[in-house]
Amino acid sequence: MLGRGVVPAGEPVLRGDDRGALHGDGLFETLHLRGGRPWLLDAHLARLRAGAAAVELPLPPDGVLVELLDAVRAGWPAEVEGALRLVCTRGPEGGPPTVYATLGEVPAEARRARRSGVTVATLPLGVAAATRPALDWLPAGIKSTSYGVSTAARRWAARNGVDDVLWLSTDGYVLEGPTANVVWLADRTLCAVPAATTGILPGVTARWLLDHAGELGLRAAERMATPADLRGSAGVWLTSSLRGLTEIRTLDETPLPRSLHTEALRTLLAFPSPR
Ligand SMILES: Cc1ncc(COP(=O)(O)O)c(C=O)c1O
Repeated sequence: MLGRGVVPAGEPVLRGDDRGALHGDGLFETLHLRGGRPWLLDAHLARLRAGAAAVELPLPPDGVLVELLDAVRAGWPAEVEGALRLVCTRGPEGGPPTVYATLGEVPAEARRARRSGVTVATLPLGVAAATRPALDWLPAGIKSTSYGVSTAARRWAARNGVDDVLWLSTDGYVLEGPTANVVWLADRTLCAVPAATTGILPGVTARWLLDHAGELGLRAAERMATPADLRGSAGVWLTSSLRGLTEIRTLDETPLPRSLHTEALRTLLAFPSPR
């Protein structure tokens, strides 16, 4: 924790009146620790900084944040995939922001999903695709600690017997999942939903895949898509830092054929092979 150094896992680090705890008033990043080092660190820090500007949250300089992450990951075994979280809240009323990081193993469920794929249902979000970015008071595309809507969606998924959901806009477009972006292959173009015009989280993993699609002879584009577009594509995946790339095997109860491109994309992402 910033200002306290390494704190044993069971020891409290937050005050009860921290606005992060009371109101979900904070930002975070989840980074994949591979070979003991955080992957795509600069992109995560850049997104955190953009979010902090949007919600007027003062952040320590990047060097201080990196030192904190270094302290937390010191001694972590290189062969174990880690989930490294950096959390910055507004702190107690009138007090400085609270900054801390946690580290644990990548959950077995995320590793299993890489191997077996997931079943997904679409779930209405109740807003048109362009609504949120058009509201100039509403910070869009930030990784807020306020995840109540996301956890409600995940509970809905569990009640309805699917692994995950994809939110759908009122005008019929797929947006993102509660903890993942959606990436699909249309002809030979690897596509993702544009964050700037929809207010979804600009995913670091999806961006990286689109930026490197050329290495597989694929084009890359940001596009809007309907569930029917996804069903007609040559592969649909959920992407996030910890799960990497997970193939959607069933969308709204329609089985999707296995994509011929999953393995190549996974290799491109250079994730430890699924176990
Ligand atoms: C809402 C949402 N969209 C997308 C993502 C994927 O982002 P990234 O690839 O940067 O982990 C996440 C990650 O947790 C998320 O919470």
